[in-house]
Amino acid sequence: MKRGLFITFEGGEGVGKSTQIRLLRDRLVTLGHDVVVTREPGGSDGGEAVRHVLLSGAAEPFGVAMEVMLFAAARNDHVEEVIRPGLERGAMVLCDRFMDSSRVYQGATGGLEPAFVANIERIAIDHVQPDCTLILDLDAATGLSRAQTRAGGAADRFEKEDVAVHEARRQAYLMIAATEPERCVVIDAAGGADQVAAAIWRAVEPLLGEVRHG
Ligand code: TYD
Repeated sequence: MKRGLFITFEGGEGVGKSTQIRLLRDRLVTLGHDVVVTREPGGSDGGEAVRHVLLSGAAEPFGVAMEVMLFAAARNDHVEEVIRPGLERGAMVLCDRFMDSSRVYQGATGGLEPAFVANIERIAIDHVQPDCTLILDLDAATGLSRAQTRAGGAADRFEKEDVAVHEARRQAYLMIAATEPERCVVIDAAGGADQVAAAIWRAVEPLLGEVRHG
């Protein structure tokens, strides 16, 4: 049996990750699980310190290689300070974005070589691989308009890119899911929150039997 369970949520802008993380957390807590909810970039003191530099666009003039290394630095701190300790004590760790966001945003649509991104990923995660990655899939135009409504019109560094880039990211996520079907589950995010939550539960419930707590 494994200790804890590491579940990552991925997808483009406005696909409903935070709502779904909240719903899954509530369900797991009701069942008596120890649940850690966290996010990237951020999730630890070091990660949060780097988050603002990335999302404000302050690192953008220095290029995408700089950005991917900052995401990785934040990720490594987050892994060592929050995710690995959580898993070691048997918690369910639910993380809003993780390594696949770097593969998609900095790799597929940022133009970095996959081998370069993979090398940095290996150092950042140091064997802490998600047990399950839920890829919330939604057409890019719908996701973007949802994200813009939520932000009240103020788009961050990555949201401001156009719909073609967002659609390319969606395709890159689907490609990751096709390449790693044992880790990834594609969830249709077009339905209502309850419908999406039910699909997520169908993916997660079978994994609970494999987990040892404490
Ligand atoms: P956030 O406000 O957390 O947005 P979201 O609700 O979309 O998750 O912003 C995170 C942004 O950072 C998002 O646009 C994706 C981007 N990002 C990367 O480009 N690479 C990464 O490795 C990560 C973790 C996030």
